[in-house]
Amino acid sequence: MPNTRTADPVSWPDLIAQQVNCDTASEAYRADPNGFTEPLRSRSGAVHRTPSGALVLLGHAECAEVLRDPRFGHGAATARDITAYGVPARSFLLTDPPDHDRQRGRVSGAFTARAGARLAPRIEQYVLDLVGKAWQRREVDVVADLARPLAASVLSDVLGLPPGYEHHFVEMAELLVRGMDPQQDTAPAARAAITRARTDFVRTFTQLLRRTPDGCGTSVIDQLARGIARKDDPVKLSEAVATCGQLIAAGYETTVGLIANGLHTLLTHPEESSVLDTTHADADAMATAVEELLRYEPPVHIAVRTALTDAQVGEVTVPRGTILTLMLNAANRDPLVYADPHRLDLRRGGRHLAFGLGPHFCLGAPLARMEAHLMLSALWSGRPELVEERVTYTFGFVARRVQRLRIRLTQRPKP
Ligand code: HEM
Repeated sequence: MPNTRTADPVSWPDLIAQQVNCDTASEAYRADPNGFTEPLRSRSGAVHRTPSGALVLLGHAECAEVLRDPRFGHGAATARDITAYGVPARSFLLTDPPDHDRQRGRVSGAFTARAGARLAPRIEQYVLDLVGKAWQRREVDVVADLARPLAASVLSDVLGLPPGYEHHFVEMAELLVRGMDPQQDTAPAARAAITRARTDFVRTFTQLLRRTPDGCGTSVIDQLARGIARKDDPVKLSEAVATCGQLIAAGYETTVGLIANGLHTLLTHPEESSVLDTTHADADAMATAVEELLRYEPPVHIAVRTALTDAQVGEVTVPRGTILTLMLNAANRDPLVYADPHRLDLRRGGRHLAFGLGPHFCLGAPLARMEAHLMLSALWSGRPELVEERVTYTFGFVARRVQRLRIRLTQRPKP
């Protein structure tokens, strides 16, 4: 398995590959991770203990329990490998309370319902413009032509990037996200490009965060810049840069994945997705469908935790220091929670773990839902068809999405 971190005693992609007994970088795994986790569930049940004592969790209840329980967190072990924003600071995704809560609280104002409502008209306009352009060409790649530009524009707004910065941001963000993946591309040219993008990211965001803060701005950069300028409890600059890096890492490819995997799933399940043809004018039908798409093809597959103290998961004893790999895709297909879990049922609704749970529950979940809902609704009303039947999946380990998705729009919706 290509992995640059063989010298590291806790190289968790390697560890997980051993645990699920497969090459997680292989095309077969990426095309169908459930083809590997389901046999493991049949053999071991909801909790699989490896010969080394590490645990792989496949059950919904067990994953939910660990995500909520403060006895499980990041400690030092699971955090070490992934702090790759080019700054010596750990983002709050990999920090335990109370540090986590303090850091998350500094930017959560950019993700409130009010902030979402303020952004909604802009997101609608982005979707309208992008789908309008798609109509001029009729055939487009959903990833490159629609989902990425949408996710980049929205993330630029949330972060508070200056106008005109977007194109540059897309290139930088892609490389940055690739560099954060533990199974990153190891070719020298790719490594060099990633290094340049990291330097660029740190320089750019350092400059933006050092600006005189806007007194009442609600963007992430405004909030962090105010924190840096404060005399009491000032935010460290490196921590602020790491927070921005994390938002890019957590919010970009994942949203692209939801839109692209979601549309691909709809197009490859025509019988089931016909429920949207008859009801696509009904906003609730698409909103419910998005939840099922998140369950069925979650863009984030894995969460990792360490037992910070001796603990238990269900009946299983978990000694302090144990690394737990939570297979979110498997939890989302748990037969104890979902009737007929491998069937796509667009009317099923709720209760998946695609956005995690507990203190680290995805901060951007409402934003991602809104983007996917608006984009999928706009595309679905143009009666899209697949141009290429076969798709391949990205190299990413934690995040998984179709690499490209060529579609043709066939029928202009009536105004
Ligand atoms: C479909 C899109 C998305 C998916 C599937 C997703 C998934 C997740 C998951 C599973 C976690 C929890 C990880 C863990 O517990 O280890 C998480 C955390 C997080 N996500 Fe998302 N995410 C998405 C979009 C976004 C967006 C758009 C943003 C922001 C712009 C965002 C920001 C975050 C942040 C900041 C965290 C860390 C929260 C914390 O540690 O307190 N995500 N996401």
